[in-house]
Amino acid sequence: MNNNAFDTKALPQHIAIIMDGNGRWAKERGQDRIYGHHEGVLSVREIVNVSGEIGIRYLTLYAFSTENWNRPKEEVDALMELLVATIRKEVDELNKKNVRLHVIGDFAALPAICQKEMQEAIDMTASNSGLNLILALSYSAKWEITQAVQNIAQQVKEGKIQPEQIDDQLFHQNLCTHSFPDPELMIRTSGETRISNFLLYQLAYSELYFTATHWPDFRRSHFLEAIADYQQRERRFGKISEQIQTTEHAPKH
Ligand code: FPP
Repeated sequence: MNNNAFDTKALPQHIAIIMDGNGRWAKERGQDRIYGHHEGVLSVREIVNVSGEIGIRYLTLYAFSTENWNRPKEEVDALMELLVATIRKEVDELNKKNVRLHVIGDFAALPAICQKEMQEAIDMTASNSGLNLILALSYSAKWEITQAVQNIAQQVKEGKIQPEQIDDQLFHQNLCTHSFPDPELMIRTSGETRISNFLLYQLAYSELYFTATHWPDFRRSHFLEAIADYQQRERRFGKISEQIQTTEHAPKH
């Protein structure tokens, strides 16, 4: 597939990415894993810029999972430091480019300095109307779904809703992604073909794209290739091919 196949008019509005392979990329070069994460930041910057340029509305990046807390302490500390340093360094540029930052996940589990830096960047970019950049930090879908169930159970207990009012829409409103549409496209780099506890509810009808390219090598051309691949697919949402109109969109979320 070449980039000429990429159609600027039929873009997904929301792309979610599992940025995988930093460690292997570094190891292949005889470097430590942290080096791979540092190089991964360059890919983050490029993919954010391309997304803004071509008019993607929402970009969700899986930057740190709930399970990543189980990595060796020095890697966890280095990743947290890298997140803080990157946001500090990039926030003015993000602001200039009209990017609005959001964070999903267990915010309270992040180190205090990381919470502070993220909150400042979220506040600073809150009125921007371009790309919505959503960082999944200390995030896992099972955590998110469990939180949603607890919220809903509490509302039932307080008599605010009846159990029979619980439907797809109400459930969605209780997820931390409630203000974003579901991703039409989910990309995972580095050859693994798993979802790894990422947006399990929201990916119900997403197109999945897996590439062997490690995240630090995943740049503009790879991203446009993934979008072009997505654009070749027929999204039927359980219907048959003949029922699908070219203007048809995904279910409400
Ligand atoms: C997966 O590669 C990558 C991560 C767990 C961290 C991703 C973080 C960054 C790209 C840097 C910071 C991001 C932002 C948004 C500023 P891996 O370590 O699992 O690689 P492996 O599977 O080869 O071991």
